[in-house]
Amino acid sequence: MTKLKEQLQETTAFLKEKGIGDVDFGLILGSGLGELADEIEEPIAVPFSEVPHFSVSTVVGHAGQLVYGTLSGKKVLAMQGRFHYYEGHSMQVVTYPVRMMAALGIHSIVVTNAAGGVNKAFEPGNLMLITDHINFTGDNPLIGENEDEMGPRFPDMSQAYTKDYQEIARKIAAEQGISLKEGVYMGFSGPTYETPAEIHMARTIGADAVGMSTVAEVIVAAHSGLKVLGISCITNLAAGMQSSLNHEEVVETTQRVKEQFKQLIKSTLEEL
Ligand code: HPA
Repeated sequence: MTKLKEQLQETTAFLKEKGIGDVDFGLILGSGLGELADEIEEPIAVPFSEVPHFSVSTVVGHAGQLVYGTLSGKKVLAMQGRFHYYEGHSMQVVTYPVRMMAALGIHSIVVTNAAGGVNKAFEPGNLMLITDHINFTGDNPLIGENEDEMGPRFPDMSQAYTKDYQEIARKIAAEQGISLKEGVYMGFSGPTYETPAEIHMARTIGADAVGMSTVAEVIVAAHSGLKVLGISCITNLAAGMQSSLNHEEVVETTQRVKEQFKQLIKSTLEEL
């Protein structure tokens, strides 16, 4: 057995002992967006630090725990916080939670993040349906020997973000009067915010939003054959479009729009 498979067996055995077994949806909750996990019914919470082969998340605004239970009538396992490449974790560590979720038998993930708005029509506080991504991190979690049992050597990324899920999210947003933008998320390694020149490039090559997460997780989701719904919270205008950037503003904006964000995810989840 490969080392990854062995680790996953240990992790899933531990979670099953905690009562976390039957899961349909994985939720990955970004900076300031973790509160959605507080609405999970009959929750079982496990700090990342207790989960075998998990790393710890160090970012302000991330609680760093798994929360399992029922949300919108679905069995979900939420990551309140995530691992980032810029923390010094390898891409394999960043994406281990998605491997774990796949090993537990989920069929879909909902990925969320805070992102900078690149599209000139966006405003801080907008929610954006992710229709596609550009991996600009300079790395890829699938580099190395392929685990053929887990997925193909050359995964197709043509529909990494599931079209049907996008349709449902659009419909829910329209029904509930939530203005839902949509576009391409471009993932940078961070931890620096981008330069204005990099944002100019990002817009030129087709990005609508930029951030420091998500792309690696979605690559592993595609490799694992999982369906994906992605939602960004546009927390700020990207570099060069406003005077300066800081993490406090990112967290403040997520706090401002969290009710709408939670409502959109919960109502969409009901119909997935
Ligand atoms: N750039 C990168 N990551 C981000 C940003 C940004 O402007 N805002 C929130 N996360």
